Amino acid sequence: MASKGTAVREKILELLQKNTDGYTSGEDLSQLFSISRAAVSKHVSVLRGQGHEIEAVTRKGYRLLRKAELLTEEVVRQGLNTRLFGQCGVHYLPSVGSTNLEAMQLAFSGAPEGTVVVADEQTGGRGRQGRIWHSPAGCGLYVSVVLRPDIAPNEAPIITLLTNVAAAEAVHEMTGILPVCKWPNDVLIDGCKVAGNLTEIFLSGDVVSHIISGAGINVRPLPKRLVADLRTAPCSLEETAGKSISRVELLQAYLVRYEYWYLLVKEQGFALLLTRWKELTDVVGKELTVEVRGETFQGTVTDVSTDGMLLLQSSDGVEHRLFSGDIL
Ligand code: BTN
Repeated sequence: MASKGTAVREKILELLQKNTDGYTSGEDLSQLFSISRAAVSKHVSVLRGQGHEIEAVTRKGYRLLRKAELLTEEVVRQGLNTRLFGQCGVHYLPSVGSTNLEAMQLAFSGAPEGTVVVADEQTGGRGRQGRIWHSPAGCGLYVSVVLRPDIAPNEAPIITLLTNVAAAEAVHEMTGILPVCKWPNDVLIDGCKVAGNLTEIFLSGDVVSHIISGAGINVRPLPKRLVADLRTAPCSLEETAGKSISRVELLQAYLVRYEYWYLLVKEQGFALLLTRWKELTDVVGKELTVEVRGETFQGTVTDVSTDGMLLLQSSDGVEHRLFSGDIL
């Protein structure tokens, strides 16, 4: 359900849209929604942050100059060059708790592979290890896809690497900047986090029934108050590339890259994907400390295994196969 703030903003936008020839005064908006003038001005700043261009003229009011693009199914599927991903459904939600949870519910009700869930805002965006993924309206691309791969549960780390590669390649396509993949799920530009992914595996007995692969890509800068508690400093595509980025085109690029690698893995196995991931990462050969559920491992990364695990050799020669963890 949309938050109260989102509902008010939708109505303000609707009003401004109906009145693009003239101005709508702040006083009228404040009376209409029974909110203060300061609150009206705050809502207008949020709408601007979402990409809507709104002019403000003293003693006249607000006027909508250009409406931001929405990630609706119709818009996203127009010119979407995929065979599977997004073709059987793009579920667009202006606001949702988490696109991963929404996709999970759809998958349990039988949604086919390639179903996409995308939102403008997540009120409970989830990161790895129970962390929060800040997802203010219009700041990022928040997307999840339903997968039904024929893989063993222990091969699931491959999907994390695949999502990593698809996000990195989409970022490259949109900005010309080639980011770095940091094991297991981060995409970095100059050491700052531009994207992350959360892969959730569901089993039926000991067989994978479906996987939800969610990705968050920072398009516009996060408000400063949300940045302080993050482990890795974030960056955004628009800030880094110095130009405006279409979230629709970014989503299309991501789905095209995702599908390319997913179908290749299905047809030919993991080898080519792993080679690509290794081209995009800088961890192989590095001396690292990795924390896995409270336990730390130190050593040199020798490789990534054929099923997507990080191979870390400690100084005593022992090889650790790490399924997931945090590089410290
Ligand atoms: C991380 O870096 O910790 C993973 C972040 C994953 C965030 C995405 S946004 C879309 C999808 N829905 C969620 O709740 N999380 C993922």
